[in-house]
Amino acid sequence: MSTIKIPKDSINFFKSKQDEIFNSGNLAEGPWNKKLSEEIKTISGSSNAVSVNSNGSGLVAILLIFKNYFGREDIMIQSNTMYGVKTIVGTAGYNLVNYIDCKIQTLMPGIEEVKKAIENYKGDKNKLVIMLSDIGGIINPDIEKISSFLKTNNILLLEDAAHSFGAKLNNKFAGTFGDAGVYSYYSTKAIFAGEGGVAVTNNNELGLMLQDFIAYDRFKQKMPIGCNIRLSELQALMIYSVVRNYKNIILNKSEIAEKYIEFCKKNEIDFINQTDNNNFGNYYKFTIISSEKKVSDKYPKIQTTTSKVYDYALGNNKDIPSKHLCLPIWYGLEEPVINKVLSELQR
Ligand SMILES: Cc1ncc(COP(=O)(O)O)c(C=O)c1O
Repeated sequence: MSTIKIPKDSINFFKSKQDEIFNSGNLAEGPWNKKLSEEIKTISGSSNAVSVNSNGSGLVAILLIFKNYFGREDIMIQSNTMYGVKTIVGTAGYNLVNYIDCKIQTLMPGIEEVKKAIENYKGDKNKLVIMLSDIGGIINPDIEKISSFLKTNNILLLEDAAHSFGAKLNNKFAGTFGDAGVYSYYSTKAIFAGEGGVAVTNNNELGLMLQDFIAYDRFKQKMPIGCNIRLSELQALMIYSVVRNYKNIILNKSEIAEKYIEFCKKNEIDFINQTDNNNFGNYYKFTIISSEKKVSDKYPKIQTTTSKVYDYALGNNKDIPSKHLCLPIWYGLEEPVINKVLSELQR
């Protein structure tokens, strides 16, 4: 179709700084990791930001710390999320006790679905973690209610913000609604830099442990867990170069979304609005939904699509894959592709 692009300014910034890294000989654990961490703290409003080599490695690290220091061993994840979220919790040695149902309107669980899953849980809530994935570029619209419900039950909330860097809800930044959150900058994401992630938390104890974890705790030598899941300096610079343009990337995607939205509204096509109810999304995906019947039956002429989120279900919600489709939307998407999509929608 066409290729996903990084802003020119990001590429030029990277090129202008890379020689600093080579000249310093400091290819790991250097100033660009620190700069990236400071930048993400400022943007997200978190008091701790730790760069890691993927969202998945950051989530595993946090789950292991929850297990070793916060007495957690059981976990629930949502039915509609990336398969890797299941392997992440298995890798951290958790008992996956349930999948939380998701709604077609958001592709995520609402507060009712979370409450229901917890009512059915027979174990000790003090040992439970709920890990929720923001899907498609918006923050789970119910996350504030979910977060306060979990807090009163002493259940930890881990926000998988792989899709949602740059998104806000009620002016609060993605990744900051639970005990910790992790972003992904993997190649397909809305704001991407190839590989890498950043974990954020306002829990300073957790933040410090995470900082030690990513270096095997080889300096303090107090923790029984840890691994090298760090970013190289070049990759930290790469992410920094992209992140400094994240608002432009979202603006560009929002302009493309506007064209789809105008058409969908005129023609009464249901879509997931990323600017509803104080939500501000990054348009990782532009999702069309069909609540009653298969989306392919309702809109058979729409052929120019991009990958669904997701084309499988981990728990119930086996109908979600067939009831949504995603239109192409990424930074620098060419006008002819947008027009092709619009003409297919028209048909
Ligand atoms: C919902 C979700 N969670 C986690 C991940 C893992 O991200 P990463 O590839 O950076 O480990 C992804 C990425 O594909 C994802 O879509």
